[in-house]
Amino acid sequence: MPTLFRVRYRTVFVLAVLILAAGWLGANGAIVRADAPSGEALDSYMCPVCHATPNLKMQLASGEFLSVTVEPQTYKQSVHGNVLQCTACHAEITGYPHPARALARPSVRDVPFLMRAYTACGTCHRPEYDQYLGSAHAQALGAGKPDAAICSDCHGAHDMTQANPAQVGLALVPAVYSCAKCHQQEFEDYRASVHGKDLLGKGDPNVPACVDCHNPHSMTQAKNNPDFRRQSLAICVSCHADAQLMTKYGLSTRILSTYVADFHGATAQLYPSRLGQAPEQAMCYDCHSNHNIKSTVSADGLLQANLLAACQKCHADASVNFPAAWVGHHDPTPDNLPLVFWIRGIYNVLITGTILVLVGHIALDIRRVFLNTLRGGNQAHD
Ligand code: HEC
Ligand code: HEC
Ligand code: HEC
Ligand code: HEC
Ligand code: HEC
Ligand code: HEC
Ligand code: HEC
Ligand code: HEC
Ligand code: HEC
Repeated sequence: MPTLFRVRYRTVFVLAVLILAAGWLGANGAIVRADAPSGEALDSYMCPVCHATPNLKMQLASGEFLSVTVEPQTYKQSVHGNVLQCTACHAEITGYPHPARALARPSVRDVPFLMRAYTACGTCHRPEYDQYLGSAHAQALGAGKPDAAICSDCHGAHDMTQANPAQVGLALVPAVYSCAKCHQQEFEDYRASVHGKDLLGKGDPNVPACVDCHNPHSMTQAKNNPDFRRQSLAICVSCHADAQLMTKYGLSTRILSTYVADFHGATAQLYPSRLGQAPEQAMCYDCHSNHNIKSTVSADGLLQANLLAACQKCHADASVNFPAAWVGHHDPTPDNLPLVFWIRGIYNVLITGTILVLVGHIALDIRRVFLNTLRGGNQAHD
């Protein structure tokens, strides 16, 4: 720490103590507030003077203690460290003693307190704030669930870090763990999935983190939400139709085209805009699951084993052979699915042939009418 800084630090500290003492002695009743009968106005620069003190604690109604130390170095290194004074988020604190805080025990979430800070976030970060207001989290909060995520649950309070502008992969690992605090089951499933194993285990930036599929701020309701169900298709194919990316992993680059070509995809594509109504056809996650996605070639054969059950969710009378009706994401070739390949081939030749014959017939017909007209005859063509 530079000497100058240390000296100023000490001076301010002495000042603060004097001010406090003055407040206590009632020698200077400069501000009198309903919730702080006697006290002293505080300038923002004074906050760290007391709050940098290690082990500064506040006793709560239950007798337990809440730490009120804000580690100065951590705060300084945070995104706001050099730009924000403490009162930017704690505007309610204008003097000492501070307004009484109605918090029973440290383990309880102090929602009014958090809400005050998050309203402050909104004054500077309007777009994120507005999106958040419509989110499943804000709705849950409004419905009286105090444990729904507020800005500081995901971002922290005094240790906030820069969000990476290239929001993919590695930069989002901390965000996955922030979700995990509250969504334990989803996290466990995700961690064991092809996607989660790669991101959390190998640091592979090409697989999705939670917020690639769930926008962190607008965070729409995911379960039983018809619009989200429809969007899920676009989310999966944003990567799985990217041929360059999928080639790297030796995966089919024809996921979307094979899906659209099949009975489920074809109808899902035909009726894309029935908003408010959930697509009834199988979406990617009906067969693959959403969080617990497994490799389709893994030795455990879990996908194959679960496939019949997946079909039966919608085709109640599906029998053991039923899953074979799904030809998969690979285009049929003479080796893989020869029957489908040849029938499709014959079909294509037949259709093209029929169309050619028809077009030829019409062309000959037009030619005949044209020649007849040229000859000046008024008679209909023969
Ligand atoms: C003179 C020392 C001192 C100064 C200066 C000070 N605080 Fe505090 N603060 C405390 C103590 C001690 C507590 C523990 C609760 C109590 O005793 O009121 C506390 C508690 C808090 C709390 C948590 C409890 C609550 O009331 O919400 C916040 C937030 C807080 N201070 C913010 C600030 C801000 C912002 C400033 C600057 C404007 C500031 N403090 C200045 C000593 C101080
Ligand atoms: C960007 C907004 C922001 C700034 C700037 C900020 N705080 Fe906070 N502060 C918060 C939030 C949010 C919480 C609640 C954290 C929680 O409970 O998860 C909090 C909590 C606190 C607490 C109570 C301890 C607790 O965990 O509840 C104290 C004390 C405090 N802040 C002091 C300060 C001081 C001192 C500064 C300046 C050095 C400061 N804050 C700057 C947002 C901020
Ligand atoms: C559920 C967790 C979560 C909540 C709640 C949340 N954020 Fe974020 N926020 C993130 C993640 C993850 C990122 C980085 C990823 C991204 O940008 O897509 C981010 C990015 C940001 C950014 C950087 C700019 C940007 O869009 O990339 C700002 C600013 C921000 N959040 C502010 C807020 C504010 C203000 C609130 C409260 C109104 C809030 N956030 C609530 C998770 C959250
Ligand atoms: C008084 C205005 C102000 C308030 C209040 C404020 N911020 Fe910020 N915030 C800023 C500024 C300015 C920056 C940019 C700092 C920089 O670029 O060095 C920033 C940066 C950020 C970033 C990093 C953005 C990025 O692009 O990576 C996040 C995340 C963030 N703030 C979240 C929050 C949250 C959450 C709150 C409330 C708890 C909050 N801020 C309160 C002004 C504010
Ligand atoms: C502080 C705890 C907390 C954190 C952190 C948190 N959430 Fe939530 N989340 C909740 C609560 C509570 C609900 C409401 C659940 C309910 O209504 O039953 C919810 C709802 C949701 C929903 C809608 C659930 C549904 O039924 O459709 C999604 C999706 C979601 N969160 C994803 C995330 C993601 C992704 C992250 C991390 C970026 C995250 N959450 C971080 C607590 C949290
Ligand atoms: C590959 C995309 C994807 C990823 C990655 C993902 N989700 Fe989901 N999530 C979905 C889909 C799709 C649904 C809707 C499932 C449904 O309707 O049954 C969903 C549903 C949810 C729900 C609602 C309740 C439930 O379990 O169905 C929550 C909460 C949730 N996700 C949280 C998370 C969290 C936390 C993470 C990260 C650990 C995460 N998600 C990662 C796609 C994803
Ligand atoms: C951000 C890009 C991205 C998104 C979004 C995404 N995936 Fe993936 N997915 C990948 C990558 C990359 C791999 C290859 C991982 C590996 O093999 O190590 C993969 C692997 C898979 C596999 C395993 C393939 C195999 O047999 O090895 C399946 C199945 C899968 N994804 C399904 C889905 C579904 C369903 C969704 C939507 C709910 C989805 N993915 C969303 C990038 C993505
Ligand atoms: C989420 C529900 C859902 C799941 C899961 C599902 N399907 Fe379907 N499937 C449908 C719907 C709806 C149709 C009717 C499509 C149309 O023509 O509009 C359909 C049509 C079909 C058809 C065309 C013949 C018929 O019965 O109409 C076959 C074959 C089929 N599915 C096979 C499968 C197989 C194999 C699986 C499992 C791997 C499966 N489906 C899983 C909803 C589902
Ligand atoms: C009707 C069930 C069903 C639906 C719907 C479905 N899949 Fe599959 N998927 C499978 C089966 C079975 C396999 C394994 C056989 C194969 O590779 O064709 C598979 C394989 C995969 C693979 C591995 C391909 C490879 O090269 O080994 C990926 C990636 C994949 N699916 C992603 C998706 C995506 C993305 C969607 C949505 C566009 C989707 N799946 C829709 C059943 C389905």
